[in-house]
Amino acid sequence: MSAEGTITPNADSFSLSDQEFEAIAQFAHKHFGLAMAASKKPLVSSRLARKLRQRNITNFKDYLASLDGPNADEERSGLLSLLTTNVTHFFREPHHFETLRNDVLPPLVEQARRGGRVRLWSAGCSNGQEPYSIAMTLLDVCPEAAKLDIKILGTDIDPVVVRHAQAAKYPEDELAQIDAKYSKLVPKRDPDGRLPESLRKLITFGVLNLIEPFPFKGKFDAIFCRNVAIYFDNPTQQKVWSAFQNALNPGGTLFIGHSERMSGPAAQHLKTAGITTYVNSPAGR
Ligand SMILES: C[S@@+](CC[C@H](N)C(=O)[O-])C[C@H]1O[C@@H](n2cnc3c(N)ncnc32)[C@H](O)[C@@H]1O
Repeated sequence: MSAEGTITPNADSFSLSDQEFEAIAQFAHKHFGLAMAASKKPLVSSRLARKLRQRNITNFKDYLASLDGPNADEERSGLLSLLTTNVTHFFREPHHFETLRNDVLPPLVEQARRGGRVRLWSAGCSNGQEPYSIAMTLLDVCPEAAKLDIKILGTDIDPVVVRHAQAAKYPEDELAQIDAKYSKLVPKRDPDGRLPESLRKLITFGVLNLIEPFPFKGKFDAIFCRNVAIYFDNPTQQKVWSAFQNALNPGGTLFIGHSERMSGPAAQHLKTAGITTYVNSPAGR
């Protein structure tokens, strides 16, 4: 991009001006809650350059305008993907799935077997490996889960990854890494290449921005929100932790990512119950 904000299509290098970086940073903070340090400028610059060249956009102002234009949803999700990572895998941070299996699910499954309602949420689920890992753990503990009122919700702000999660198609080498005790639930060669319906029917997927008010009436018994809040600044993280605390039933569990920390008012009620694992203990209970 030249000093006037015009991209030279064949240029080898490209640099956002400080003003342009600031415009992107402000947009990302307002719409996605992202905290973007100035140290990210070279990375953002090179990723954005590639994107704009691919799209034949030669003017930075046009790009900014496209974020509010008729295809705003897709454009914004493209920008978010460029600023964050969708990296995930099955049974990531496996200790959380052991806690889910051994401590969290047994009383919830009993509750469901007595006719109760159980809701689990993977918030910021990326391509779906996290909610499918929850579903595999659930099916292993409770093979009849689909007949009970137990449901898993998987959401992400990015419609592209949500579509991927719904498609439920993963490369063989990724599936091969799933522990043998769960792999029996994953067919080695499924005719259409999708994960089995027994898993898929336990999960509902949707697009949801975690920095906006949650649209749910009912509460959750367990929430996984891992490696998502790491992108938010501190006040936004605290708001999101409080929103999760409000969205959890008393005794409900919140799992967060390995490099994330609980902070702010929610920390009074979300009590440590293992590595980056918190149980909702509202005042007076
Ligand atoms: C690194 S992935 C984490 C996936 C999974 N939870 C895990 O730990 O493996 C981060 C995900 O957070 C999503 N994300 C970022 N900002 C978000 C927001 N404001 N609301 C919802 N999801 C968001 C991204 O789209 C991305 O898919």
